[in-house]
Amino acid sequence: MSHSERSPLLDTTGKPNDTTDHTPTESSSRDRKQQDVKGLWLVRTALLLLAVEVLSVLARIPLSVFSLHPFFMTLFIILLTEGVTTLQPTRTKVEKRLGLHRHAIIQLFAFLSAVTGFSAIFYNKVLANKDHFTSGHGKLGLSVIAYLIFQASFGIVCAFVPGLSPAIKNLWKYHRVTGYLLLSLVWITAVFGLQADYIVANNWLIPPSFLLSNWLLLAVVFVVISVSLRIRFYKLKGQVHQ
Ligand code: HEM
Repeated sequence: MSHSERSPLLDTTGKPNDTTDHTPTESSSRDRKQQDVKGLWLVRTALLLLAVEVLSVLARIPLSVFSLHPFFMTLFIILLTEGVTTLQPTRTKVEKRLGLHRHAIIQLFAFLSAVTGFSAIFYNKVLANKDHFTSGHGKLGLSVIAYLIFQASFGIVCAFVPGLSPAIKNLWKYHRVTGYLLLSLVWITAVFGLQADYIVANNWLIPPSFLLSNWLLLAVVFVVISVSLRIRFYKLKGQVHQ
């Protein structure tokens, strides 16, 4: 494990860390890189499968305000997941600076997609004069949106607000932990969304018994494990102090 990979993403002033690595590459770090690549492709395979399933349903139903919900929520999941993996891991000073910028921009678009997808389903229910947040998926989805707003605000404060004390910048480590929890909850919400009556009725790719079974939740575990392959667990313990 190289020294600069272990150095924090943000320094005590909240700027991307400028520790430069001169340590020779070890074979263990080569193995770690291979594991990172494997993890990334497993995650992307899961994203592709989700996108194909959602698009296959959308292709069968009439285009309406409702269609915007699964479409933008899938885009949200793709961007959110890619936005997390883009920071796993960063090594040199330049990688850390660019990684943080990429993360912020991707997550901004993820946030906008979530807001669009949420507004679409909310408005669709207003149009149909239906009650809101009645299903497990709807209730969990609402909580996830609230969590997302908190997560984004917390990350912006830690990374971009100038002049904050190192103690506050040090809270970045919690942004990391809560981010992984948010990602897992978003995937679980999507599984419940895929199990909604309207989606199951118009699904033709996945056998309904599989779609409605816990096997799909196992697929989420698969995504979580794939992302975990790329986690540097020591980073969850601390950001500024090692
Ligand atoms: C990508 C896969 C998804 C599909 C196929 C999907 C599908 C659906 C469907 C069919 C409904 C209407 C039925 C119901 O209320 O349960 C719905 C509602 C809802 N979805 Fe999703 N959804 C997906 C992802 C998400 C995600 C990731 C979130 C949140 C992060 C979310 C949040 C909501 C909310 C809050 C409602 C209820 C809105 C209301 O009652 O006014 N959905 N979804």
